[in-house]
Amino acid sequence: MSNPDITTPVRRPRRLRTSQVMRDFVAETHLDPAQFVLPAFIAEGIDAPREISAMPGVYQHTETSLLKAAEEAVAAGVGSIDLFGVPTPEHKDASGSQAWAADGILNKGVAALRREFGDDLIVMADTCLDEFTDHGHCGVLTTDNWGHTVVDNDATLPLYATMAVSQARAGAHVVSPSGMMDGQIRVIRDALDAEGFEDVAILAYSAKYAGAFYGPFREAVGSTLQGDRKTYQQDPRNARESIMEVQLDIEEGADMVMVKPAMPYLDVLRQVADMSTVPVAAYQVSGEYAMITAAAQNGWISREPAILDSLTGIRRAGADIILTYWATEAAQLLA
Ligand code: PBG
Repeated sequence: MSNPDITTPVRRPRRLRTSQVMRDFVAETHLDPAQFVLPAFIAEGIDAPREISAMPGVYQHTETSLLKAAEEAVAAGVGSIDLFGVPTPEHKDASGSQAWAADGILNKGVAALRREFGDDLIVMADTCLDEFTDHGHCGVLTTDNWGHTVVDNDATLPLYATMAVSQARAGAHVVSPSGMMDGQIRVIRDALDAEGFEDVAILAYSAKYAGAFYGPFREAVGSTLQGDRKTYQQDPRNARESIMEVQLDIEEGADMVMVKPAMPYLDVLRQVADMSTVPVAAYQVSGEYAMITAAAQNGWISREPAILDSLTGIRRAGADIILTYWATEAAQLLA
């Protein structure tokens, strides 16, 4: 007879973990490459792709190597590419004017992608001035009444509008304002509509935190930033504020909203996913990529399962769309 001191479990959750087929049968969370976005960099003045040292496997691209990377992404089933431009230092100025130049490096890259892939790949453009300003801030600078240099919100807005229109003209399906200026979605929507680009969508970087995980990206874009972005990006200690940012962006016309970074802000992502009436994206940023890559290179973590684990967590927390430097590789792993 059974030992009366030992109680037999009535519920046995392990039953649904007994085989791979069973585990797949009951899985709640699925990763779909169609909802992956590959962030990519096109650099001016290079004649061969240049690997970013803090992001092994990620490159500053030439136009040729960009098209090749995009081709691989499309072949793997990746839905979108989000392009960042890296101008030469001579092409940076106080207002970031190369950001909206038709022959600026970012717009040239956008045009090349759209020409090559048409509607088979969602071409997304980063809509922010930081790569193009000589001071590295996301907006233009001014001096306040106390003599401090500050980023001028309202003077930056028309520049974002001009930049977004230039990106639409170059062929972007989606513009993605990432500068965290108040009111940026409204001015961009109005400007796009006024120029006949009412079908160009806006992915708003709504809840973007001034966190510590952007370091490798700064190298990736040759950032000249001194100091930080704490007067415009959000304080990592606050979650409630993200709800307001998302609400405002939706009211202003955002078609999709984003939480960024992803892994340190999964709680924010869940809250946003629960209240948003538009699709929600999350950006697995450069520092997240670098951490897993470095640990794997040291043999401290198993690379491929860690990549999939990290993406599954982001998806489970509520992201529909995931921006990840592993987009192509993860898509291949899932195939
Ligand atoms: C700025 C921008 C940043 C990233 C995307 N857009 C850097 C920043 O806010 O300092 C970071 C992306 C990453 O770290 O992967 N427009």
